[in-house]
Amino acid sequence: MEYTSIQEAMDKGSGKVALRGWVHRERGSNKLKFVILRDSTNKIQCVIDKEAVGEENFSAADKLQIEASLQVFGTIKKEDRAPTGYEVHVTHFDVIGECDKFPIRSDQNREFLDDNRHLTLRTQRMASILKIRSTYFQVREEFFQKKGFFRFDPPILQPSQCEGGSTLFEVKYYNDKTYLSQSWQLYAEAAVYALENIYDAAPTFRAEKSKTSRHLSEFWMVEVECAWKDLHAISELAKEELKYCIKGVLERHEEDLKSLGQDVAKLKKMVSAEWPTIKYRDVLRILKEKKGLDVPFGKDLRTIEEEKVMEEFDTPVVVTHYPVEVMAFYKPRDPEHPDEALCFDMLAPEGYGEIVGGSQRSMDIEDMKKRLEAEGEDCANYEWYFDLRRYGGVPHSGYGVGAERVIAWICKLDSIKDAIPFPRTMLRWKP
Ligand code: 4AD
Ligand code: MG
Repeated sequence: MEYTSIQEAMDKGSGKVALRGWVHRERGSNKLKFVILRDSTNKIQCVIDKEAVGEENFSAADKLQIEASLQVFGTIKKEDRAPTGYEVHVTHFDVIGECDKFPIRSDQNREFLDDNRHLTLRTQRMASILKIRSTYFQVREEFFQKKGFFRFDPPILQPSQCEGGSTLFEVKYYNDKTYLSQSWQLYAEAAVYALENIYDAAPTFRAEKSKTSRHLSEFWMVEVECAWKDLHAISELAKEELKYCIKGVLERHEEDLKSLGQDVAKLKKMVSAEWPTIKYRDVLRILKEKKGLDVPFGKDLRTIEEEKVMEEFDTPVVVTHYPVEVMAFYKPRDPEHPDEALCFDMLAPEGYGEIVGGSQRSMDIEDMKKRLEAEGEDCANYEWYFDLRRYGGVPHSGYGVGAERVIAWICKLDSIKDAIPFPRTMLRWKP
């Protein structure tokens, strides 16, 4: 007989089934056992009756512990009293992998659970997050394929910085050195001359010295670069992308989201609402007038300031025109206000902070050289990048979304560490 998933068996609803999975719960007596079997699709109650399976097979049931793996044969029936509405009356089962005292319980501390990540991944909570993560990437792919964008794969080993030298991870490279990617951006800018509209999803590395609930040292940035688009067009695309992704997750994962404590109705409402675009100067005004915080023009927004201003909004907000002096070298000056950059961040509500960073790209080689030099960079390393302005240069823009920041926000997680299977931070790089 062919094995099916638990969900497929439940969809069938009656007749003989063969299932495989792990023991989620077990209880019973020396005559009758109830085993809740789980697989990646669902859970089902399996009834093991000594009379039905025989003495010898039943003796194996006596030794069953949580997380042992099984194959189960029997008949499925609707049963309203069973936890998921169906029950399998077992005729025979085999223990595939025994399990002696599974080490993970719900009352353990974060450190212990992180040390045992290889085992906590199979908890219901982590499985829900991982499924949502999988859907998020899938739906996003669908969004850009429908729009006719091309997928473009950047190098991960890169010889220079894109987002500031202080967070670079250095890698020994034969007899030389190189760095792990902080962003695909500089390479994406080369690729738009061939493909015009591109997207990717790639591992990204930053040696963040901050131990916050928002920073990972290795994360997945999902990025976009478009020829011809300006700041307005690119930031509107970011809104459209995120709305599409959240909608896709909502359509497929209502139960998972609820089990994670997310307010599904609120999320749905947010997706259909307008997401405002304001300027950095508006943020300063809101902070001053509504929060009594006096932040002078020219400072990047700190977490606390982002949180304060976002108390005034219940959707994500795009903030544009940050001060040039605290922005990366490639963010161009606004011709009308040369101290402001044609750039944007998207801030998420409920304290989840910056989820997107993007900009138009500077076409002014001399200005970029000055700014790189001020950061202590050797401009010779960027000659190839300047070439992109010398040979048929076109206005272009792009942005990067922190996939784990979005997942943490959608799933209402306390820590970004749970948005990625095996988190790497300043203090955690094992297992
Ligand atoms: O704002 P960032 O630094 O922008 C860039 O890297 C641009 N080059 C992207 C582009 O225009 N193509 O990073 C983009 C996003 C942030 O908004 C944040 O969501 C996420 O990446 N991010 C991190 N996520 C987790 N851990 C970290 N250490 C992160 N650093 C940035
Ligand atoms: Mg940023």
